[in-house]
Amino acid sequence: MKRIRLHLDKKLDESYDIHLEKGFFKRIASDLRMQKFAEQYVLISDKTVYRHYGKKLVDALKREDLFLGKLTFPAGEQSKSMQQFQELQESLVGLNAHRKTGIIALGGGVTGDLAGFVAASFMRGIPYVQIPTSLLAMVDSSVGGKVGIDLESGKNLVGAFWQPKKVYIDPEVLTTLSPKHWKAGLGEAIKYGAIQDRSLWEFFEKHLEIWQKKPKDIMPSDWKIIEEMIERCIRIKADVVQKDEKEGNYRQVLNYGHTFAHVIEKMSDYTIPHGEAVATGMRMAASLAELLRMMPTVEKERQDALLDALKIGKSKTKGLIKDFIKFMKTDKKAKGDLRVVLVNRLGSCAQQMGNYAITVEEKQVQQVLKASELITDEKTVSVSQEVNNYQQSSSYDSASVYSSPNSSTQAVSSTAPSQQASGETDLQRRLRLMRERRAQGGGGFLPG
Ligand code: GLY
Repeated sequence: MKRIRLHLDKKLDESYDIHLEKGFFKRIASDLRMQKFAEQYVLISDKTVYRHYGKKLVDALKREDLFLGKLTFPAGEQSKSMQQFQELQESLVGLNAHRKTGIIALGGGVTGDLAGFVAASFMRGIPYVQIPTSLLAMVDSSVGGKVGIDLESGKNLVGAFWQPKKVYIDPEVLTTLSPKHWKAGLGEAIKYGAIQDRSLWEFFEKHLEIWQKKPKDIMPSDWKIIEEMIERCIRIKADVVQKDEKEGNYRQVLNYGHTFAHVIEKMSDYTIPHGEAVATGMRMAASLAELLRMMPTVEKERQDALLDALKIGKSKTKGLIKDFIKFMKTDKKAKGDLRVVLVNRLGSCAQQMGNYAITVEEKQVQQVLKASELITDEKTVSVSQEVNNYQQSSSYDSASVYSSPNSSTQAVSSTAPSQQASGETDLQRRLRLMRERRAQGGGGFLPG
C-alpha cells in the first residue's frame, strides 16, 4: 500500500472591507480601479435595479476602463434558478470573461446570491464585489459570503461560501426602494436585536417613527439613525461570520425565523419577500419558545409589539400544516428533523447542549402553526382553477398574489396533476404564468 499525502494546510486571508457611506455610489468605480481586484468587470443586475443605478455605474466603469459587459435578468426570486444561473455563465463565456474578470453584484438579495454564485463557480471561482441596493441585502445577504440558487425542492439548496472582495453600501439608494421591500428589510434587521443585542432592539423601538416612513419620505435628519442601524446590524453579522464562517454552529443564530420563512416563501411561490417571511417566522419561533417555556410571555409580546408597529410578519400561507412541517424537515439544516433557532429573551439565543439549532417535536410545531392562524390548513385548489382565477383578475398586484393558491399544489395536493402534457411541471407552469403577468405590467417588483 502506498499512502501519498497531499498537503493543503492553507493560510488564506479573505478579510474584506464593508464600506458604508452615504453618497459613495458615484465613487465606487474609481475605488475599484485603485483596489485592483480584477482587470475588468461584468455588472450583473436585475432589470429594475439596472434601470435605476446600472447605467450610471456602467458609465463610470467605462470612464475607468474597467467595463467588460453587463448582464441583466428579470427581478424576483424566480431568477435564482439553475436556468438563470446557466444563462449567466454562458453569457460570461460570450463576453470572453476569464479568471481575472470580476463580477459586480448590483441589487438586492436575489442578485447578490445569484451573481455571487456565478462568481464562485465561473472558471472555478473569480473575484466579485457586492453593491447592495435593498435594506435586506445591506444588513444581511451582501455580507458573509453565502451565495446560491434555489431548487424546486427548496430555497438556497445549491450554493457556496464565496466571500466578496469588498461590499459597498450607499444607504442613499434606499430612497427608491418600495415600501414593501423597506419593511421586509426591517424584518431581517430587527432579527439582529432579537438574537444578539437587546440595546439594538430598544433602538428599533425608540426610533419607530423613522422605520414607519416610506423610503421616499425619509428626511435628511433621519439618515444618521438609518446609517447607525445599518452599521450596528453589519457589525453583528461580521462578528458572527468571523467566529463561524461555515456555519458549524454559531452562525445558525442568523437563521432566526428562517426555517419557517423558507417554507412560507416556497409555499407562496416566492411572492412573499424574504424579510417579511422572516418576520412571520420570528413570530412563530417566539410562540414555540413560549410553548416550550424557553421564552417568557412578556418577551414574546414585546417582540410581537415591534413587529405589529412595523406592520410586518403576518403573511398568510395557503396549504396544509402537515405539508408545511414536511418542508421544514427538508430545510438544509434540518437533517430530516425539526430544528429551529429560538430566542429566550430579546438579545439572546437559546442553546440545547451548546447547539443553537434546537430540535423540537412535530406536535409542538403543529400546535404553534395552528394557533398562529397564519396557515389556512386547507388543500389548495387545482392549477386549472387557479389559471382561471388569474385570467379573471383585472387587478393583479402583490396583494392578490398573497391570497392566491400556492406552489405546494404541485408538491402536495392530490388535486393537481404533477406533470403537464408539455413536460412542464405545475410549479414551472405557475412560475411562467406569473412571469408573463409581470411582463405585462402586473406583479410590481421594485428593487429588492
Ligand atoms: N443570512 C444568514 C447568513 O448569512 O448566515
